[in-house]
Amino acid sequence: MKLGVNIDHIATLREARKINEPDILEAIFILKNAGANQITAHLREDRRHMNDWDIKRIIDSSHIPINIESSINKEIINYLISLKPHTITLVPENRLEVTTEGGLLVNDRLKPVINKIKDNGIRVSLFIDANKDDIKRSKDLGADAIEIHTGAFANLFLVLNTNLNKTPNKLDIDNPKEKYNIILQNIFSGAKLARDLGLDVYAGHGLNYQNVVEIVKIKEITELNIGHSIIARAVFCGLECAIKEMLIRLKR
Ligand code: PXP
Repeated sequence: MKLGVNIDHIATLREARKINEPDILEAIFILKNAGANQITAHLREDRRHMNDWDIKRIIDSSHIPINIESSINKEIINYLISLKPHTITLVPENRLEVTTEGGLLVNDRLKPVINKIKDNGIRVSLFIDANKDDIKRSKDLGADAIEIHTGAFANLFLVLNTNLNKTPNKLDIDNPKEKYNIILQNIFSGAKLARDLGLDVYAGHGLNYQNVVEIVKIKEITELNIGHSIIARAVFCGLECAIKEMLIRLKR
C-alpha cells in the first residue's frame, strides 16, 4: 500500500502567521527520506493554505511523485498543467467548507477537463463517493483512477470508537453502528468494482492511525492520501516519525 502525504496543513500553520515558516520545502525532503511514496497538496480557489508559489516549488523540487488536488476551475487547471505534476485529482470545492466534505459530482462537465489534463501527459484521479454509478461514470469519462472519499467512514469511526462525542466538536449521527457497517461495505464493493473496470483505486480523507487498519484490508486499494492525522502526530513526534508510524500500519 502506497502512502501519499498531504502537506496542506504545514501551509495552514504558516498562514496562521502569514510569514514564511514552516517552509514546505523542508517537509518534502523529510517525506522522501521517511519513505512516503507521494506528496499531495490541494491548491484551493480561496488559497487558504497552499498558494501558487508553494505548488510550483513542490513540483520543481520533489524527487517523489506529486499529486495535486484541484477543483475544475479553469485558471487553476491551466496553471497546474503548465507545472506538470504526476497526477491531478479533481475534487469538489465549496468556499464555506472546513474541508472537502463529499465526493465529486461525476457528470459530463468533467469530460473536457479530464481530456485536457490527459492530453498533457498527466494522470487524472477523481475524488468520489463509493457508489456504483459514480464509479462507472468515472471510467466512462476516461479517468485513470478514483480516490474513494473516506470522510463519512472516518467520522463514524470517531463517534463509535473515541471520546469525540464528549467534546464540543461532537457529531450528531443516528444509528452510527448501522451506518458504519453500510459505508464500509460500500467502500469494499466500490473498490472491487473500480478495479474490475480497470481503474486504479485510492482512498483518503479522515484516515488516521486507528481507522486506517480497516482500509488496508481492502486489497483493491493501492494508495492512501493522508494529511491531517500525520501532521497532527508530527506536532508531538516529528514529521519523519509520524510518517514512519503510518507506513508500519500500511504494510500488508
Ligand atoms: N484526499 C483528498 C482528495 C483530499 O481532498 C484530502 C483533504 O485535502 C485528503 C485526501 C486528506 O485528508 P485528511 O487531511 O483528512 O487526511
